[in-house]
Amino acid sequence: MLRLHNLTRAYELGGERAGVFDVSLEVPAGCLAVLAGPSGSGKTTLLQLAGLLDEPDEGEVILQGQRVSRLPEKARCDLRLRRLGFVFQSFNLVPVLSALENVMLPLQLQGLHEAAARQRAAETLDQVGLSERMEHRPGQLSGGQQQRVAIARALAPRPVLVLADEPTASLDHAHGGPLMDLMATQCKASGVSFLVASHDPSVIARANLVFRLQDGRLTATEGAA
Ligand SMILES: Nc1ncnc2c1ncn2[C@@H]1O[C@H](COP(=O)(O)OP(=O)(O)OP(=O)(O)O)[C@@H](O)[C@H]1O
Ligand SMILES: [Mg+2]
Repeated sequence: MLRLHNLTRAYELGGERAGVFDVSLEVPAGCLAVLAGPSGSGKTTLLQLAGLLDEPDEGEVILQGQRVSRLPEKARCDLRLRRLGFVFQSFNLVPVLSALENVMLPLQLQGLHEAAARQRAAETLDQVGLSERMEHRPGQLSGGQQQRVAIARALAPRPVLVLADEPTASLDHAHGGPLMDLMATQCKASGVSFLVASHDPSVIARANLVFRLQDGRLTATEGAA
């Protein structure tokens, strides 16, 4: 479903060379995959390449069989909107909008009419266990609840792949596992895949597939797809 083929993205800074180097990996459909590795190992760099937010120096990103990393910005933007979802460490919800309105946003950007967007957003919030909290604004929700709204916002447009950068890092320890369980349930239910960057052991323990990064290189792949 997602294939990264010999990806290199190098940053030269003060004589130091950092980034990711010659990384190849594959995330099948319906898979909960984790990019694990210490700080500076290249997890965010790789997610940005996979999310078409950055272009590789070498190699290719192949999404559903299509080479996509060197498409013009407009086409990449369209793919991000239609086929990819994003979840961030700091949730990135719009503070003045309700949970429901936050989830409606990308649907309306996709061109769905308000009533249809409202219905789809409500269904998705229900799937993440927040049917009782739809009218709350982010500031009126716990961190774990806010991150579930962010997951609902990523899932509502029905992407094939959701990219999540340290999604549990702002939550206290007890919330990381349940959030991953929620992602695993979604993988099974809809066939969406997740690629999650994390060094949280409770996140790594729940993955179907773990890619270990060290100094920008893939050092091991664990688990069967
Ligand atoms: N824009 C940039 N300019 C120069 N160097 C960069 C840039 N972005 C990342 N790097 C370097 O690339 C390497 C990988 O960084 P990256 O952010 O991908 O790591 P990470 O695994 O996400 O780390 P963390 O767990 O701390 O988030 C690091 O050595 C970092 O300093
Ligand atoms: Mg990072």
